[in-house]
Amino acid sequence: MKKVGVAILGLGVVGGGTYQILTEHREFYQKTQNVDIVVENVLELRKERALSLGVQENKIASNIQEICSNPDVDIVIEVMGGVEPAKSFVLAALNAGKSVVTSNKELFCKYSYELEKAARKNNCGLFFEASCVGGVPVIRALLDNLQGNKILSMMGIINGTTNYILTKMTNEGSSYEDVLKEAQKLGYAEANPTADVEGYDAAYKLSILSSLAFHTKIPFSKIHREGITGITADDINYGKQLGYVLKLLAIGKNTDEGIEVRVHPTYVKASHPLATVNDSYNAVYITGDSVEDVMLYGRGAGALPTGSAIVGDVIYCATHPNFRYSTFKNTEEADPNTKFIDNFKSAYYIRLSAHDKAGVLAKVSSIFSRHNISVAQMIQEEDVTADGRVPLIFITHMTKEKSVNKAVEDINLSDVADVVSVIRVVS
Ligand code: HSE
Repeated sequence: MKKVGVAILGLGVVGGGTYQILTEHREFYQKTQNVDIVVENVLELRKERALSLGVQENKIASNIQEICSNPDVDIVIEVMGGVEPAKSFVLAALNAGKSVVTSNKELFCKYSYELEKAARKNNCGLFFEASCVGGVPVIRALLDNLQGNKILSMMGIINGTTNYILTKMTNEGSSYEDVLKEAQKLGYAEANPTADVEGYDAAYKLSILSSLAFHTKIPFSKIHREGITGITADDINYGKQLGYVLKLLAIGKNTDEGIEVRVHPTYVKASHPLATVNDSYNAVYITGDSVEDVMLYGRGAGALPTGSAIVGDVIYCATHPNFRYSTFKNTEEADPNTKFIDNFKSAYYIRLSAHDKAGVLAKVSSIFSRHNISVAQMIQEEDVTADGRVPLIFITHMTKEKSVNKAVEDINLSDVADVVSVIRVVS
């Protein structure tokens, strides 16, 4: 039976889960895959943590060189997160002829061109299923099963922290600040939540997924990114009244006009399958020209779900002798021939705080009309505030982003209303 040695860099939550799966399922993989996967080394500064997981003391390496020069290690699993020292360690492993499996979305998003170059040069595998959407097998679906398609679009809830926060806000009517505090207390949100709540984490993942889906490099810099920190309980409630659920969506579209990639809070029609993805669950909704719509759903994070994706890659690497790389030129920047759309089209939710007097609606309508914005739905709330203002809420038909920005400027310059919030809508 083929024996494959692995080393795990980092025994945090995901590293610990990976170690557990590999050791508990060792005999199962011997039977089902005809391969004996052995953890030969771990790299973990907290020796106590390694020992508590059951790692033998002589398997704990003191530095990356020890792992690179260990002839029994074939595959290095990087689950440290962050760019450095993860990048140097991964490059050292590849240059030592070891294949790499990584869960590191920031590293892979920013430096896959460099890592892939080293992997090709050394004839090593480079696997990254766990970098996007944890246990949900979306990378392999894009790399293998959906290759027969031209992927037209993908929409995903690919950050569990923000989905947990938005779900709680929706179900309980609580404020963003209160839910975030509670999520931090329960360990669902990081002490420094910026990467999640400002949409960086989702944008790293969208960069990776859309590059694979659209067969061209989509660097992080091309992604329009907005987080959820400005979302209020009022907007969630008004959305509900109009039949929408608010989600942080990662959207990629590949049209004849070009590619658009964006991460932002989005109202999703309550009947859309993505509207039912709640709590910390993730989902990716892919539309291909042949397969039509496919939705992949599951746990986007966590020790065992993410460990499942890593171990899947380890088995794939151990049982597939020929390594494959990107179907496009994986460079640092976008291919100059790829056209990106920034003035994209969407439907919009626009909430105004308006004076409650004759002529206000006419004036707002005339501004919309000047910018060619057509209104699909409107509500005026009866609750007048102390300064005599009322909430006016519009949902537009498909409109260009720049037209909405100009209309917002004009409304704010007028003396009849102020724009309180603008949120894109998917119907
Ligand atoms: N922080 C991520 C999330 C999990 O909240 O979904 C790892 O990508």
